[in-house]
Amino acid sequence: MATNSKFIGYIDEALEKSREAALSHLLFTYRGIPYPVTMCTSETFQALDTFEARSDDIVLASYPKCGSNWILHIISELIFADSKKKYEYPEFPVLECGDPEKYQRMNQFPSPRILATHLHYDKLPRSIFKNKAKILVIFRNPKDTAVSFFHFHNDVPDIPSYGSWDEFFGQFMKGQVSWGSYFDFAINWNKRLDDENVKFILYEDLKEDLAAGIKQIAEFFGFSPSGEQIQTISAQSTFQAMRAKSQETHGAVGPFLFRKGEVGDWKKLFNETQNQEMDDKFKECLAGTALGTKLKYDSYCQA
Ligand code: A3P
Repeated sequence: MATNSKFIGYIDEALEKSREAALSHLLFTYRGIPYPVTMCTSETFQALDTFEARSDDIVLASYPKCGSNWILHIISELIFADSKKKYEYPEFPVLECGDPEKYQRMNQFPSPRILATHLHYDKLPRSIFKNKAKILVIFRNPKDTAVSFFHFHNDVPDIPSYGSWDEFFGQFMKGQVSWGSYFDFAINWNKRLDDENVKFILYEDLKEDLAAGIKQIAEFFGFSPSGEQIQTISAQSTFQAMRAKSQETHGAVGPFLFRKGEVGDWKKLFNETQNQEMDDKFKECLAGTALGTKLKYDSYCQA
């Protein structure tokens, strides 16, 4: 498991800020997308434009609550298997979160650097494409993503809560949540999934066959773990294993972050009207697209 003290320190700081933030003041808009004031600033976004990516940077792009901490863990274990060095997070790994000087400090970090991000494709710094960094894009079905997002807000004591699931659902569908609309994010990335340095991975496929997913991720980033190493990483990357260590790896928020890890939890919260609204939105935005097919919506989002 990676060394996470910077990671935990940053999360604790964000939670501290969240304690004072009312839900109505949680978001600010930058270039058309809402972000949480507790984690992002326009100064950092401006500094991000000058960020210099490297060809061996490991970019992990996902909408919030699609399993980014899961993939971060898998990647850090692959690096460990490859180099025998524990991956230390020199900064909080979400690229767009932190102070504006972070990109200067990152110039000094050894490769490979892990850059997690929730940014839409067109908001990423151009050097990522110019320098051909590889990008793994992680998706999860929108219904479970929304439910996970709602619980994160309403279960973590320091994060502002919504009045009800219905209220959150309305905001989620309008894209008035941190990092904006799931569907805009998906439409934006859909155009790029066939790019040479981009690979798609589905949360639900990883749940179905973790070892196969780890193997694919390893191949994409050029790691060559043995069969035995893949088995070890799989055993350490199950939901149960990660939840058991979550306080050690993520601090107080750990058990909330590793909440349930299931496919289909949405069935407990969605009512018929909400189901229909999301099915219609999916059809409108993604039906007939490459990403629409890859998401296997009919398998995971039909009652
Ligand atoms: P739930 O809230 O549905 O449990 P992110 O890391 O992007 O914030 O995503 C969090 C979601 O990923 C949570 O979903 C969490 O439980 C799930 N998750 C994290 N690690 C997992 C694992 N090893 N297996 C399955 N799901 C996992």
